[in-house]
Amino acid sequence: MAIDVKGKDFITTQDWSVEELERIFTLAAELKQAKREGRPTPLLAAKTLYMIFFDASTRTRNSFETGMTQLGGHGIFLSPDKMQISHGENARDTANVLSRYGEGIAIRHCAFREGNDYLREVAEHASIPVLSMQDDVYHPCQILADYLTIREKFGETKGLKIGVAWTSAPNYVRPLSVPQSLILMMPRFGLDVTLAVPPEFRLMPEIEEQAAKNAAEAGVKFEITNRFEDAFEDADVVVPKSWGPLMHTTDHAKGLALIEKYPTWRCGKEHMALGKKHLIYMHPLPADRGREVTDEVIDGPQSVVYDEAENRLHVQKALMALTMG
Ligand code: CP
Repeated sequence: MAIDVKGKDFITTQDWSVEELERIFTLAAELKQAKREGRPTPLLAAKTLYMIFFDASTRTRNSFETGMTQLGGHGIFLSPDKMQISHGENARDTANVLSRYGEGIAIRHCAFREGNDYLREVAEHASIPVLSMQDDVYHPCQILADYLTIREKFGETKGLKIGVAWTSAPNYVRPLSVPQSLILMMPRFGLDVTLAVPPEFRLMPEIEEQAAKNAAEAGVKFEITNRFEDAFEDADVVVPKSWGPLMHTTDHAKGLALIEKYPTWRCGKEHMALGKKHLIYMHPLPADRGREVTDEVIDGPQSVVYDEAENRLHVQKALMALTMG
């Protein structure tokens, strides 16, 4: 029997089986090919997606909105400060009302200890699918794009090693959602995962535990190390990326000071040389050039960051077509 995910929320890949996720990758590849050939794919004709952004975005907004256009539907950009959310309208009322109009609600809400709760509350009350555009715990669409990119580069992904390395980047405390979603999903598709972090930058304990469980079930390795180079050594794929020390402190000033404690955690060509010959550099973007990574690496031949960004469009089109169609 065909796997049906119509109406299903997408808040974390953990709520989807490997077979359900495979449906997204299969359709994403078909939609990518159709776009290349100029074939129209009006799978969501006359359908509407509401996109609520509590936080800034370049890739996520434009890939979702463009995706809806290419599928024959319409994506509406909504900012909470221009909605009645700003006057206190609750998740239940917002969810119920939007469910009477359209076919999907997408939300980005990264406030720590608030975002995921809000998405779950909207999903509880909405009668149409709720799609995560990133919260404080998960960024599942980013990881779908990452996986599609890895599969395009390597074909078979079983037995590959992916290194997820914390990097030092100033200015603001970034969410935990990208590394958390990476360590959760990659083992389920057969990749060994090495997470390299300074002690203060560990991830949510329940996520680390679930990642270890996923790895054990899949028969792959999951290790956590305090040594930056471990993420690169013998790796096929590396994602050096900054996030905040949120399990250690939620004080913003203390968080920024801790980030400055590890300035050498920056990806350079000497690190890329530690991996396999075909090692690829990935980053969800925006990257803090010069602090997280040298220009030489991010603009170099091992970098696939623009392929990765492009694949946001294709996986999200597949996700929307399958859940909202
Ligand atoms: N990677 C990503 O989510 O980019 P934006 O923050 O620009 O949407």
